[in-house]
Amino acid sequence: MLRWITSGESHGKALVGVIDGLPAGVEIEPETVAHALERRRWGYGRGARMKFEQDALEILGGVRHGRTLGSPVSLVIGNSEWPKWTEVMAVSAVDDEGRRYDEPDRMARGRGQALTRPRPGHADLAGMLKYGFDDIRPVLERASARETATRVALGAFAKELLKQALGVDVVGHVVGCGSVALPEGHYARPEDASRLDAEPMRCIDPETSARMQQEIDEYRAAGDTLGGVVEVLVYGLPPGIGSYVHGDRRLDAALGEAMLGIQAIKGVEIGDGFTTATRPGSRAHDEIEKAGERDGKLVIRRLSARAGGIEGGMSTGEAVRLRAALKPISSVPRALSTVDVATKEPASAIHQRSDVCAIVPTAVVAEYVTALTVARAVLEKFGGDSVEELRRNVQAYVDGLGVVIE
Ligand SMILES: Cc1cc2nc3c(=O)[nH]c(=O)nc-3n(C[C@H](O)[C@H](O)[C@H](O)COP(=O)(O)O)c2cc1C
Repeated sequence: MLRWITSGESHGKALVGVIDGLPAGVEIEPETVAHALERRRWGYGRGARMKFEQDALEILGGVRHGRTLGSPVSLVIGNSEWPKWTEVMAVSAVDDEGRRYDEPDRMARGRGQALTRPRPGHADLAGMLKYGFDDIRPVLERASARETATRVALGAFAKELLKQALGVDVVGHVVGCGSVALPEGHYARPEDASRLDAEPMRCIDPETSARMQQEIDEYRAAGDTLGGVVEVLVYGLPPGIGSYVHGDRRLDAALGEAMLGIQAIKGVEIGDGFTTATRPGSRAHDEIEKAGERDGKLVIRRLSARAGGIEGGMSTGEAVRLRAALKPISSVPRALSTVDVATKEPASAIHQRSDVCAIVPTAVVAEYVTALTVARAVLEKFGGDSVEELRRNVQAYVDGLGVVIE
């Protein structure tokens, strides 16, 4: 069973990730993981923080001489800003001279001051109440989407596993930003990956990208923020990943949970999702056609791709396609109304420096989180303690199918 966990605060010393259950023999270099982290940092609409927040990656365990060992992989992503945060985020209650970090005069200076004006749209208020804090700092430190860097780094292993054992490609791209939407019928393909990396909006249509950038500029000028929609496609997955036999074994359920597990994702659809709900049944499904015969096997194809490559909670052998909706960034420069829980007076929400729109990095995060989720489902079906064994298991299954899917 593939499982992973992350730890660490946004301004803490480092983020930490562990992934367990990866087969031995995944070829990977630290540069591949570092590149994944780089991809998360690019994009139009990102704020100043991304410019100085280098991701100092170190892989600590589970990899030797460029290959996974089958043991848990552990990694840390150091915080280059840590020297500025050593007091505020100190692990110990006291410094080397025995002085408490939370002395009122010390905390009154700069960043250490208690944050008592919860920001609407963030975890601040419910988090304070839930954990019994009188300061928002411990909530925002962990609720921050900086955590997604760790899932991206762990997801880089899953992506390599899928590619090396099954030839599966996972591609994320931006299909909506504010009111601008990519026209229907534009699907990112594996060969678009480097073009998308170089594209400021990670959008496959330059004209739509330009309009998205214009929209971000307008919102920035107005002191506002905006959200958007990302799409992830998984190419090359054999049929039968996931299962109809129980709700929690459905591939669509797992992907939905994974997407909603990304900060600020508020909606998910598989294939044409919400649009499908408005169509008559005669135009909602993907009809099956005989495309010929090959080596005594029936070759089939679908006449459309509305279902997003999943039926009955299982991959159909078509490309898997899902979308996720990101709410606008909650740290709105034109500060939102709140209350100060210390003074009990109405107030403006604290405004931490942040992005105007996080849709571009979200496409990258969704891509790696999808890779993790699909890799877990693949390993559940095929097992395998080494990449070679997994590859054999997949090949034997595909060879045994009486049908070829085009
Ligand atoms: C990749 C990514 C980057 C984000 N960057 C910011 C940011 O810079 N500022 C901010 O206020 N929210 C940002 N967010 C959104 C917050 O993390 C999110 O709004 C907050 O956690 C509350 O969302 P929730 O209600 O889903 O937890 C980002 C989200 C993602 C996925």
